[in-house]
Amino acid sequence: MSLSKDVSVEVFAADFAWGASTAAYQVEGAWDLDGRGPSIWDIFSHTKGRVFEDQNGDVACNSYRLWDEDLRCIQHLGLTHYRFSFSWSRLLPDGTTNYVNPKGVAYYNKVINDLTGKAITPMVTLNHFDLPQALEHRGGWKSPEIVDVFDSYARFCFKTFGDRVKFWITLNEPQIYAKLGYEDGLFAPGVKEKGSALYLVGHNMLRAHARVWHSYHAHFRHLQRGKVSIALNSDWAMPSDPGCPEDVAAAQRYMDFSLGWFACPVFCTGDYPESMRSRIEARNLELDFVDGQRLPKFSEDEPTVLGTADFFALNYYTSRKVKQASPRPGELSFAADQGAERTTDPSWPICGVSWLAVFPEGLRKLLSYIKETCNNPAIYITENGFAQMGPVELEDLDRCQFYRDTLQEVSKAIRDDGVNVKGYFAWSLLDNFEWTHGFSVRFGLFHVDFSRDERSRTVYRSGREYAAVVARHRGHT
Ligand code: NOJ
Repeated sequence: MSLSKDVSVEVFAADFAWGASTAAYQVEGAWDLDGRGPSIWDIFSHTKGRVFEDQNGDVACNSYRLWDEDLRCIQHLGLTHYRFSFSWSRLLPDGTTNYVNPKGVAYYNKVINDLTGKAITPMVTLNHFDLPQALEHRGGWKSPEIVDVFDSYARFCFKTFGDRVKFWITLNEPQIYAKLGYEDGLFAPGVKEKGSALYLVGHNMLRAHARVWHSYHAHFRHLQRGKVSIALNSDWAMPSDPGCPEDVAAAQRYMDFSLGWFACPVFCTGDYPESMRSRIEARNLELDFVDGQRLPKFSEDEPTVLGTADFFALNYYTSRKVKQASPRPGELSFAADQGAERTTDPSWPICGVSWLAVFPEGLRKLLSYIKETCNNPAIYITENGFAQMGPVELEDLDRCQFYRDTLQEVSKAIRDDGVNVKGYFAWSLLDNFEWTHGFSVRFGLFHVDFSRDERSRTVYRSGREYAAVVARHRGHT
């Protein structure tokens, strides 16, 4: 049985986007070549003990040098769309438009021209976790100044590449960036400030995103006719015991503190979910927290955050069973604010990494939830994938099954639930640098041999099968 025969391709509209995604730091390498400035991930991964076996993205898949190979992989899959990110510090080494690196501009011009020349639509993420280190020195995402700086960078990108790029993602997974980077310290910049910095960082990311959306709409959209959004990650959360009202409320809070934190301001109300405001404010009193308000307020003097997305960009990987957490009196932390304890269902297989329990049905449920709670937006699934750890299996039958089940769930969401899903991007085109896990976790549709300088790419069986689905759909329409 093959993936291609299994998936009912006729459900997908003729212009459905079939894509795969990557991100600059995870694939490009060439970290100090041709004028690129350092990013926070260079500094973080060069610090001992941060990443599995002290690995780093200095070379990664060497996509900076081997872009032609990547293009061949994209064509081999027959993709209609390719999502990748700009390395901000390759374009603007110190993060500002004071100096533009011509070699960085030339590289991305080539990537974009090669794609559009082959009728492959680029979707560009402006910043996927790798803030220029020079900006980190100025306070990074904690500083309100970042809003103007990000806006200048974005305008530079729109001006330089916007004649050809029509899909823009401002920021990737702000929830992960804020939580792992500023509370858990597991991601760059490696800050461990429980229960406060993350909300400020999230807030500035939302403000920066909104500013850029407004800039695009005011100055570029009439000529360039593109779309701008922000990629939001979310698990799907279900109550551990659906009959227990506390668990039901905890599961809802889990959704509010993950998806709602960013989706609610942008798509629903212009403000954070009520449960976040009330829980955090109540806990501020309990903790006698006098140093500011922790969850900032949106200023009425700034352009609104509400409505600043032209589509919903969703990254989905896993689902959770959630129960009410026991109170953590006196504890300043995101988990204590959220008051929800996550578990998993023993029937969901764990793939690759411990956090990744496989439950494709969760994607269908999440899609419906977004339809209902976010005003039925057009949705692009900008990331979804399955990890391998341990020995390489080019005949990755589990991953094939995963894509088959997932695409079936997406087709049910479209056909039976009426969700407006416009595209699906597999994570990832290539095995790559999986952040703190280094190269030990492999998400690719192509295997990359990191032990050799050539970094040779070999298609996995799942890549072949994904290609067959795309081909069948393109032949059918
Ligand atoms: C989401 C992130 O955007 C991406 O960078 C990461 O590799 C995948 N999740 C898998 O963990």
